[in-house]
Amino acid sequence: MNILVTGGAGYIGTHTLIELIKNGHSPVVVDNLSNSNAESIRRVEAIVGTSIPFHKIDVQDKEELEKVFSRNTFDAIVHFAGLKSVGQSVSHPLEYYSNNIDSTLVLLDVAQDYGVKKFIFSSSATVYGTPEELPLKETNRTGFGITNPYGQTKFMLEQILADVAIANPDFEVTLLRYFNPVGADSSGTIGEDPNDIPNNLLPYVSQVAVGKLEKVSVFGDDYDTPDGTGVRDYIHVVDLAKGHVAALNHSKPGTEVYNLCTGTGTSVLELITAFGRVAGKEIPYEIVPRRPGDVGACYASPEKANKELGWFAEKSIEEACEDSWRWQSQNPSGYA
Ligand code: NAD
Ligand code: UD1
Repeated sequence: MNILVTGGAGYIGTHTLIELIKNGHSPVVVDNLSNSNAESIRRVEAIVGTSIPFHKIDVQDKEELEKVFSRNTFDAIVHFAGLKSVGQSVSHPLEYYSNNIDSTLVLLDVAQDYGVKKFIFSSSATVYGTPEELPLKETNRTGFGITNPYGQTKFMLEQILADVAIANPDFEVTLLRYFNPVGADSSGTIGEDPNDIPNNLLPYVSQVAVGKLEKVSVFGDDYDTPDGTGVRDYIHVVDLAKGHVAALNHSKPGTEVYNLCTGTGTSVLELITAFGRVAGKEIPYEIVPRRPGDVGACYASPEKANKELGWFAEKSIEEACEDSWRWQSQNPSGYA
């Protein structure tokens, strides 16, 4: 398939480009590079040995987007483009609502004009807000207890996409709810490259391991979890990327939603220990108060994706730590 990949220069986008190309698809990337570097695309090209058409444009720019659609015939869209920092979304809500919502509205509008029917959307575990039960299933309630504008944009966009599919019976929407993506391509040449001090746990731990940061602050050890620290469902980004190929293969009219997760929870201390083992060094940490808005445990059932998409998360947390460490230690300043 010819596939438009928005946000394809980013962390999950780059890994997905590799899987798309390995499976015979032809991606075209649009990205405004607001949170990425064009070098990431060059590195992907080196891994796959083929060139990838890239357009530096903002998805909100309808005129520029239309030019890309008019020069290509797309069978599907994989929509990664969006801002994703929870903390920033609290301090800059308008930027988040306008970027994430507007870009999707513009993209849908142009997609309809050009008759593109398959749409894969990057949603997030954050739509479940406060988990109703564990492990989470796709049928659990969403929208209750979302603590930040970033999460609200994902919740709203799920609704918007479902409405568009109702109005257009041949439109195919797949909402992929990612849990906590970690790891990197095993080449060590691409990976997660946060602009500032990382907010997420694994990039923070890897920057401590490489000596860029002093120690990990563990946000609370008094949760109702086996060791008291937060438990999450960490999924290797390569497994996550493969989930998009599976979703494209099984896309059908209407709206479908899948958790992309492992079904297994790992605590903050377990992750720090696993990373230290891989990096061959002790990772210094201290326990600090809970982070506002955090839940104790969040993990989900991959059963629906297993059964319907034939997709399984195969890589372990140790492999994710090894791959992140290879990327971080070979590229201590990321793509810069
Ligand atoms: P990322 O920031 O690395 O990639 C997103 C890309 O989109 C970046 O390259 C950025 O430059 C681009 N972009 C942003 N706004 C744009 C716009 N208006 N026009 C064109 N390009 C634009 O993030 P990621 O981790 O690869 O995440 C990809 C998607 O998955 C995002 O929608 C994110 O919200 C979602 N998601 C990520 C996680 C995670 O933990 N990484 C978890 C759940 C969901
Ligand atoms: C966060 C976002 C979520 C987003 C997800 C993936 C919040 C409240 N939620 O989820 O919306 O979809 O990232 O981008 O920010 N931790 C520490 N020390 C750190 C960093 C994290 O102890 O320096 C702990 C957290 O308390 C949590 C776990 O590590 O228990 C994972 O945190 P993080 O990587 O930020 O992901 P989430 O909070 O699950």
